[in-house]
Amino acid sequence: MKLDVVVLAAGKGRRMQSDLPKVLQPLAGRPLLAHVLETVGRLEGARAHVVYGHGGEQVQAAFAGAADLSWHLQAEQLGTGHAVACAMPGIPEDDATVLVLYGDVPLVTADTLERLLALTRGPTPAEPALALLTQHADDPTGYGRIVRDGEGRVTRIVEEKDADAATRAIREVNTGLLAMRADHLRAWLERLDNGNAQGEYYLTDVVAMAVDGGVPVNALVVQDGDEVLGINDRIQLAEAEAALRRRHARTLMRAGVTLADPARLDVRGELACGRDVFIDVNCVFEGRVVLGDRVRIGPGAVLRDTQVAADAVIHAHSLLDGARVGQGCSVGPFARLRPGADLADAARVGNFVEVKKSTIGEGSKVNHLTYVGDAEVGSGVNVGCGTVTCNYDGRRKHTTVIEDGAFIGSGTMLVAPVTVGSGAYIGSGSVITRDAPAGALTLGRARQVTLSQWTPPGTEDEE
Ligand code: UD1
Ligand code: CA
Repeated sequence: MKLDVVVLAAGKGRRMQSDLPKVLQPLAGRPLLAHVLETVGRLEGARAHVVYGHGGEQVQAAFAGAADLSWHLQAEQLGTGHAVACAMPGIPEDDATVLVLYGDVPLVTADTLERLLALTRGPTPAEPALALLTQHADDPTGYGRIVRDGEGRVTRIVEEKDADAATRAIREVNTGLLAMRADHLRAWLERLDNGNAQGEYYLTDVVAMAVDGGVPVNALVVQDGDEVLGINDRIQLAEAEAALRRRHARTLMRAGVTLADPARLDVRGELACGRDVFIDVNCVFEGRVVLGDRVRIGPGAVLRDTQVAADAVIHAHSLLDGARVGQGCSVGPFARLRPGADLADAARVGNFVEVKKSTIGEGSKVNHLTYVGDAEVGSGVNVGCGTVTCNYDGRRKHTTVIEDGAFIGSGTMLVAPVTVGSGAYIGSGSVITRDAPAGALTLGRARQVTLSQWTPPGTEDEE
């Protein structure tokens, strides 16, 4: 099936009270429009056509480089029918199917859209149908009403402002999403007029035209109302965020993850989990995060583009970004792993420790108040509290190498480039500026002195 998806995104979004165009407002860390386009990308062979309005340069810039995407300007917002007409020059084939989506309805699933598209198949291939996505609303205020005849067939859509009291009482509403064949749509759009209460070209008027022309109209009633949540203000944006949170939580729990509270988990990207993973409250996952079997994540942890292998524990309030954590490791509480932090199996990185672009070998411990940057730390190493790899000379970064089994006493400054040999022992409080040989004790600190002829400050002035 040739499929052209027209995404309406020309609305101003005035109620957002924002300088950012509405479709660029972030939902789960990505623009609303990105969610819609991602769903379009899941539909086989779909080409996307975005109808944009004023401020469209900003929207286009946000999606520069996106494949299979064309842009159509609607300079004046004259209605949804007019908006779709703006995209039609980009859809030359008559036998293509056109699916209309809204840029501010981000949670519709590819599954629902596929079912809607299936309803464009009429009794024979030569008689395609118009397919319409509707919803039963508790409160239909503001929506177009779906009018059906005595046999339950859809006859037309009436916008609220044009509806009489009886029509307003109808609870089945138009979600705005619909699909039909391009040649039909083109012909009907040409016949639209704006003789209605809002003086707009209503896309919804094509439904009555289809019925008039003997084209079957099939309605699909959406089951999950979250899918058709439209976003006009920040309250609805927060509702969509909550809906997405529920969706992510359900998917994770079905896959065998225990969530301390499904309402307090934010996934702003992709989170893949093994079996029997436990995630405590208020964790945020960004980018692509992979958690192995039985991983435990403490409360308030933030993980971005990070892989954590089986049986590792990430304790409370740790921040991991671009890190790789091996099997059975322990990280945090309050640890910060920055890009390039690579922990081998059973390594331990404790509280107030920052690791950047460094490997920490198997079973090594960096437990307290330490900075490890641009370092290669071997296995079985113990890095004492308050150790700093002094990696930056003001111009360049240098590497620190700590070989297997070395012991770094607390409060050591390792001035890179420097190597500590295997099994070396560095006395506490050392400033190490030259390589420390393997297996030996190296100290680099001022010798302690005690002055017995000392008088407390001020006392020498007294007579
Ligand atoms: C429209 C439908 C209504 C449906 C409702 C669902 C029409 C006439 N009415 O209502 O039946 O119940 O959606 O939310 O279609 N847009 C443009 N250019 C325009 C006008 C709108 O791009 O000139 C875009 C908006 O950015 C938005 C979408 O189209 O994404 C819908 O517009 P909106 O004004 O929210 O919907 P209504 O016309 O009120
Ligand atoms: Ca709307």
